[in-house]
Amino acid sequence: MRLFAAVVPPEEALDEVERAVAPYVGQVPGLRWAGRPTWHVTLAFYGEVPERALPDLRVRLERAAHRHTVLDVALAGAGAFSSARRARVLWAGVAGDPMTRLADSARAAGRRAGAVQTDEKRFHAHLTLARARTDTDLRELVESLAGFAGSPWRAERLHLFRSHTGPQVRYESLGDWALAPVKRG
Ligand code: 2AM
Repeated sequence: MRLFAAVVPPEEALDEVERAVAPYVGQVPGLRWAGRPTWHVTLAFYGEVPERALPDLRVRLERAAHRHTVLDVALAGAGAFSSARRARVLWAGVAGDPMTRLADSARAAGRRAGAVQTDEKRFHAHLTLARARTDTDLRELVESLAGFAGSPWRAERLHLFRSHTGPQVRYESLGDWALAPVKRG
């Protein structure tokens, strides 16, 4: 099963993204927009994981969640992989760098649970908005979305999803765990 760990922004944050992209959806030939129900920020992509590794992965993700406090996040700006001129993925960004440590822990949880394909590319928090099958020049679009600045929100849970690929990508939740509350005093 194809698995990944992620943070899911609250509906209000997604509303803001939806409003920001609405004028452009369907306007760029070859660009397939990700449906709002699939929007998330990936922390770790595990690739194909044998089903027998799932219980251990769940335990390790739960432990990882408890070791990290809730995160202050805001979605902001936009960009493209691998570049705006030769884009395959259009994304909304995450302000600052609030998720890197949690992403490191989520990756480590996968490695220890035996997810051998865990993606170890440098972590770059993003929310994928659209994909292109071929390199596409999205400079204008990226520029138009660059000024996007969403309201702050709190990431309070770490999620594990199964990715069902096919004509219609679907993500099935396999668990989610609370991050530790902020310590007071
Ligand atoms: P993306 O949003 O940049 O496409 C499920 O596929 C999630 O895992 C997506 O958010 C995807 O990132 C992420 N992911 C990271 N590495 C991946 C890979 N090698 N193949 C597919 N998805 C990957």
